[in-house]
Amino acid sequence: MSSEAEWWKRGIVYQVYPRSFQDTDGDGVGDLRGIRQRLDHVVSLGVDAIWISPIFPSPMKDFGYDIADYCGIEPLFGTMADFDALLAAAKERGLKLVLDLVPNHTSDQHPWFLESRSSRDNPKRDWYIWRDPAPDGGPPTNWLSEFGGSGWEYDEATGQYYYHAFLASQPDLNWRNPEVREAIYDSMRFWLDKGVDGFRVDVMWHLVKDDQFRDNPPNPNPPAGGNPANRLLTTYSADRPEVHEVVREMRAVMDAYPERVLIGEIWLPSERLVAYYGEDLKGAHLPFNFQLITSAWDARQIRDLVEEYERALPKGGWPNWVLGNHDRSRIASRVGPRQARVAAMLLLTLRGTPTLYYGDELGMMDVPIPPDRVQDPFEKNVPGLGLGRDPCRTPMQWDDSPNAGFAAEGVEPWLPLAEDWKTNNVAAQSRDPGSVLSLYRDLIALRREEPALSLGDYQDVTALGTLLVYSRTHAGRTILVVLNLGAERHEVALPDGGGDVLLSTGGHARGSACLAPCPWVRRKGCSSP
Ligand code: GLC
Repeated sequence: MSSEAEWWKRGIVYQVYPRSFQDTDGDGVGDLRGIRQRLDHVVSLGVDAIWISPIFPSPMKDFGYDIADYCGIEPLFGTMADFDALLAAAKERGLKLVLDLVPNHTSDQHPWFLESRSSRDNPKRDWYIWRDPAPDGGPPTNWLSEFGGSGWEYDEATGQYYYHAFLASQPDLNWRNPEVREAIYDSMRFWLDKGVDGFRVDVMWHLVKDDQFRDNPPNPNPPAGGNPANRLLTTYSADRPEVHEVVREMRAVMDAYPERVLIGEIWLPSERLVAYYGEDLKGAHLPFNFQLITSAWDARQIRDLVEEYERALPKGGWPNWVLGNHDRSRIASRVGPRQARVAAMLLLTLRGTPTLYYGDELGMMDVPIPPDRVQDPFEKNVPGLGLGRDPCRTPMQWDDSPNAGFAAEGVEPWLPLAEDWKTNNVAAQSRDPGSVLSLYRDLIALRREEPALSLGDYQDVTALGTLLVYSRTHAGRTILVVLNLGAERHEVALPDGGGDVLLSTGGHARGSACLAPCPWVRRKGCSSP
């Protein structure tokens, strides 16, 4: 691998949830000026790119994932001038900017859908998925909404059902219609022409549905206590073979511009996920790999999934790892604050582009949301199952000024702040060399200095009990990564003493995870640095 590798291979992606980053206009919701104001934090972390969740005009039924205009800016977030200023400010600092593209569905307030539902013979009728009722008058198939209930909504006026994989206010577009494809590709070009560096494509695997509208089969192993929609498999409503043609077309749109990245949100097991790299790697550059979110926190399981993923990758396909996002419980809540440090080291030392979620660099935890403050429609539709996503979307904690510096004094943030914000914030952690934030900064700096960590080969060493040990090698330099995923202290005897410790999670050389240059591994197969 040459040092000329594309930026998105060497780089690190940082996800900004715009509602929760920084409010500048006093409405309790973050905005584009706020992101611009806080770019220095992003730069100080050392990441290469920010991906911003949707900022387009939206009724906000799903907080921006219900888009009413693909080529505008939601007034809550600012204006197009604010966007242009943000893009320019990011570029000045050498940061890439990736936008969220939501092509599977629009808002029911999008002019396309208003037209489509206006009559059966409207030219845009076929832009969405309309079907006659089943013979008993019920929904055309048994397909379920990810957010609870049937995936079909009956439209009285025209006597047909339309399909929505998410909320009824998020009707699915019909990707079998070439006009729909062109309309979305045009909106991509609009942003690419402005100079954005890529897209994270929302629910990429959902885009195409079965052309025969067959019922989904029951799920033989539905996970206990999970999303009620998991009682069926999504055999006919998602991951259809024809989706790959669409992804290839999207990639062709990107390839007309230099150095852009196409990232796909895809929740599938490794063997199906990797198909999204596309034939001849002409699909997504980075089909998001969420296995660190879904896996048990167990050394052997993680070792096995890394190996399986590495094996499944197509030749030349570049790996990636995601530790958290705006849909899932935060890493510090999933594994506990101490292990969140180990998780940071894992994310930033595995082979592949890491994506980290705002606030995780502070070890922010899920925040319990009182019932009267619940915002997430998922929680409202299927309450009490712990599926709500508000807890991981609370405001960023900047300092100990009112509202943690997220919003002005007297403003009520759209979601409550974590209780610990006075002591746990960017300013406080920046002063503490032993903080999680300092660890993230050190890890990222090391990853930038050491091509072995960004571009190097991965080699499994062992997964023994709670210990996970692997090495990364590039141009004769090998770095050994020793992680303890358990609570007990362990002595690890490294052959020949294992070399110097470069970095440890617990304040240099004494913690439960460390990085060491490794003469043992070098001797086994590599030349000296
Ligand atoms: C994706 C988004 C999620 C959204 C859903 C519907 O999974 O990450 O936040 O609710 O798609 O657009």
